[in-house]
Amino acid sequence: MPSETTIFSAKNLTCVFGHGKKSTKAIDDLTFSIADQEIVSLVGGSGCGKSVLAKIMLNLIKPTSGEFLYKGKPIIDQRFHWREVQPVFQDPFSCFNFFFTIRDQLKASFGIMKTKPSKKEMEERVDQALLAVNIVPSEIQGKYAFELSGGQMQRMLLARIFILRPAVLIADEPTSMVDACVRASILDYLMKLKKELSMTIVFITHDIGLAYYVSDRIFIMHRGKIVEQGTPDDVALKPKNEHTMKLLDDIPDIHKNWISR
Ligand SMILES: Nc1ncnc2c1ncn2[C@@H]1O[C@H](COP(=O)(O)OP(=O)(O)O)[C@@H](O)[C@H]1O
Ligand SMILES: [Mg+2]
Repeated sequence: MPSETTIFSAKNLTCVFGHGKKSTKAIDDLTFSIADQEIVSLVGGSGCGKSVLAKIMLNLIKPTSGEFLYKGKPIIDQRFHWREVQPVFQDPFSCFNFFFTIRDQLKASFGIMKTKPSKKEMEERVDQALLAVNIVPSEIQGKYAFELSGGQMQRMLLARIFILRPAVLIADEPTSMVDACVRASILDYLMKLKKELSMTIVFITHDIGLAYYVSDRIFIMHRGKIVEQGTPDDVALKPKNEHTMKLLDDIPDIHKNWISR
C-alpha cells in the first residue's frame, strides 16, 4: 500500500518552450503530489505533455515556473537524483551503445552507485537481474544491442532497473514498441519490481486500459493540464471529463471487458 511519504510534489508547475506567438505551454500550472510506493499513471494523447513531465521528474528539463520537489526538497545534485530516480524509455535501442556488449553495459550501471560492489558481486547481480526478467545469462553472453530483439532489449532496460534498484521508476511508454505478448510480460515485471523493491512508479501511456491494470491512481492529461484524476475505478468506470471518455472509447474491446468486470 502507498505510504505517507511524499516523493514528488508540484505546485503551479509550468513549462513553456519558445517565446511569443510560437511558444508551447507543454506543462500548464500543475499542482499534484505522488506518495512513496504509489503507482501513478499519466495518461493522455500524443503531445499532451507526458514526456516533458517525465523529464522534469528526472531533472532533465527545468520547469519555467512553479515548484517541483523530490522528497520535499528541490533537486540540486543530479548524480544523487539519478541514483534515486531512474527511467525506462520507449526505445531501448537508444539507451544502449552498439560498441560494447550488453553485459558490459549492464555492469557499467554500477558506475552511478556511491560504493561499487566487488567484481564478483557485480557479476552475480547482473545474473540475478537477467533471471528476474526471464533471460538466461548465456542468451546474451558476448552479444551486442543489434543482435537482440526489441522485446529482449526492453527487458534489458528492466534488468538495469533490477541492478540499480532506484527508489523511483519513470516508465515512459515502455510497452509501445512491443507486441501484446511482450507487453503483458513487461507489465508483470513492473509489478514484480514494485513488489520486490518497494518502488514508486510513474507509468506513462496513451492506453487507459493498461493504466487501469497497473495503477493506484490515474492522472488524465490534456494540453499540459491534469483534467481528471482518481483511482482506476473512478476514472475508468465513472469518467467525468470528455477527454477521459475519448481515451476510453479508443481502447480495444478486449480491455473493455476486464474494465467492466
Ligand atoms: N524540447 C522541446 N522543445 C520544444 N517543444 C517541445 C520540446 N519537448 C516537447 N515539446 C512540446 O511540448 C508538448 C508536449 O510534448 P511531450 O511531453 O513530448 O508529449 P507526449 O505527451 O506525447 O509525451 C508538445 O507540443 C511538444 O511538441
Ligand atoms: Mg512522450
